[in-house]
Amino acid sequence: MALKSSANNLKGAVLNFNDDAKDDYLPSISEAELSDEKVLQELDQLHGELRDQVIVLGHHYQQDDIIRYADVTGDSLALAREALNSTRRYIMFCGVHFMAETADILKRPDQTVILPDLHAGCSMADMANRQHIDQAWATLQEWTKARIIPVTYINSDAKLKAFVGDHDGVICTSSNAEKIIQWAFEHGEKLLFFPDQHLGRNTCYKMGIPLDQMVTYNPTIWNGGLTPEQVAKAKVILWYGYCSVHQGFTLEQIKRVRAERPETTVIVHPECCFDVTQNADVAGSTNFIINYIRQAPAGASFAVGTEINLVNRLARECPDKTIFSLSPYQCLCTTMYRIRPRWLLASYRAIKAGSPINVIRVDEKIKRSALVALERMLAIS
Ligand code: 13P
Ligand code: SF4
Repeated sequence: MALKSSANNLKGAVLNFNDDAKDDYLPSISEAELSDEKVLQELDQLHGELRDQVIVLGHHYQQDDIIRYADVTGDSLALAREALNSTRRYIMFCGVHFMAETADILKRPDQTVILPDLHAGCSMADMANRQHIDQAWATLQEWTKARIIPVTYINSDAKLKAFVGDHDGVICTSSNAEKIIQWAFEHGEKLLFFPDQHLGRNTCYKMGIPLDQMVTYNPTIWNGGLTPEQVAKAKVILWYGYCSVHQGFTLEQIKRVRAERPETTVIVHPECCFDVTQNADVAGSTNFIINYIRQAPAGASFAVGTEINLVNRLARECPDKTIFSLSPYQCLCTTMYRIRPRWLLASYRAIKAGSPINVIRVDEKIKRSALVALERMLAIS
């Protein structure tokens, strides 16, 4: 009975996050209807029953009660590859909106991508929109004759991926940023890197580009707050965007760990700010952090500067090591956290009823352009 009424409520609903259609937000299954325990029981059953049709992809920052249903876990690069190679009819993407969009761009035409809560966005991705990028591009083209290669972090709207596809640019993730930037400098003299200033700055600095050859374009200020002279001198133009989660890690926290637990290795994600990555012992992508900690000898101690669900899971997975968050405030990606078991169940029920909900559909024209940039990235990395 419950199945029938829920499926009818949700019938045929498709929402495109980027088209201001958020009012169509779909209700989850209420706690009055089903307890948390019963939600997991029904999920166990539907996950098994629909296994041939549905692949569940889970980003490493997802909560444990979602990760337990993930057929594949990974970082954004690994999950993009998985979406490309998956053969099942439905790709249930337990991550955030830009990741599900990427999957929709890479999937086969007969597959459907589902994001169990369409409000699971990314605050960083929201810091650059197509209008701002078009404007910045026009200004930069007017100011310099140098060839600028646009590079977007995969944490961006599909329209920005289309922009780089249309302008001989490329996409990167935190796992392949160095290789991609290397490629970009083989094809142009300057980079426009968006939306994450920190990944751009940290990676370029690591590759030997001094800070005085990087400038930051702030879209909320006239001409990005830059002058033609500054752009002429710069090799790298960084967008003023950041991750609100990784912004929570600070130099003060590192100093405290050094003073109180000197045996501890500080390991952070390159979305952390420059001071933090410079003063950490190691910095690398989500995958890099996982592998580094897993491979460390028993007894090792780590203060980790990345999302708390991953940090806690690593701590449980490696009881022979001491693993804790660098921040006392337990930096949680609240948008990743929107993907809850009862939302996953609602999406499963709708598939079973033949009317999938929470479907991600990127516009075909945008898809074609974005695919050029995504395929370029996959070929380089
Ligand atoms: P990864 O590329 O490391 O998966 O990072 C994605 C992300 O959103 C990190 O904040
Ligand atoms: Fe976006 Fe930061 Fe969350 Fe990653 S951790 S999805 S960059 S808000």
